[in-house]
Amino acid sequence: MSLNFKSQIPNLDGVYAALFAAGEEIYAELKKGSGLKFVETSNESGDAQIGLDVIADDAFFKHLQSAGTVKYVVSEERPDMDQISNGEFSVALDPLDGSKAALVGIPSGAIFGVFKSVDTEHDLNGTHIVSGGFFVFGMHLEAYFADGDAVYKGLFNSEKQLWTVLPIAQTLPSSRFCAVNASNLTLWPEWFRGYYLNLLDTKGGTQKPHNMRWYGSMVSEIKRLIIEGGLFAYPPDGRKGYAEGHLRLVYEAIPMAFLIKAMGGGATNGDQAILDIAVKGRHQKTPVFIGEKHMISALEAAKATVNSDK
Ligand code: F6P
Repeated sequence: MSLNFKSQIPNLDGVYAALFAAGEEIYAELKKGSGLKFVETSNESGDAQIGLDVIADDAFFKHLQSAGTVKYVVSEERPDMDQISNGEFSVALDPLDGSKAALVGIPSGAIFGVFKSVDTEHDLNGTHIVSGGFFVFGMHLEAYFADGDAVYKGLFNSEKQLWTVLPIAQTLPSSRFCAVNASNLTLWPEWFRGYYLNLLDTKGGTQKPHNMRWYGSMVSEIKRLIIEGGLFAYPPDGRKGYAEGHLRLVYEAIPMAFLIKAMGGGATNGDQAILDIAVKGRHQKTPVFIGEKHMISALEAAKATVNSDK
């Protein structure tokens, strides 16, 4: 592989080399059709795993171990925070995001956050993160990430085994798109149902409703958010185990929030910025709302109004 990218963060290049090498390896396995079926194991959160989940987790660990600069790794697929060296960085991973989507050919990917000065899992938060982003395993192998405050897109040329990494616009476009699993509408808290139904309001035909999208693959939704704008939401709902939504704070919400903030967008759990949430545990869940800043402000205002009515 060849990755011509120089991080603005001292000593981080080796971590990128490891992450990108793992991304290539996982994408090559996916292209071969490896691991595209359920296995008998489940991950720490009890989600059923497919073979590629395990392949992806192993690939990231192998490459991060050889980087030599990574102290702790937290992965969705492992119960513990594993120490792999005494390096200055720590990495949080969703090694295969959207695995069920991958089974039906929808682009999946991997989400990563790189943190500095981590002593305990509580430090895997919005203060310590220095890089965050994701790979997309789709028609092409792509990467979208924020290196500090600078945002990049990487595209892998499989024939030449070469990554082209270029800066991308640091502003989110604006659109009337909303990505949410609306099948849970009747189970959502009332404030979010009201907010969502307002997005569909045509004002008697004078306004276009927001267009609803749901791939069931966060990396695909956030890629569209970067390209087209709008909002991505995974609210809490009334199902057992969904009181804090479905997504994980450390290796899904925080890396995406870091990236979208660098693009001028916002990310909240409804009450506070995702990057300000205290991390109580490495597999903690959180409601997630990420998107254009004016939508995040309106959403927080909608929730605050309901809270103040109580
Ligand atoms: O676990 C992560 C994930 O697969 C995301 O990629 C996606 O946004 C979400 O879960 C899909 O959730 P649901 O099962 O509600 O469609």
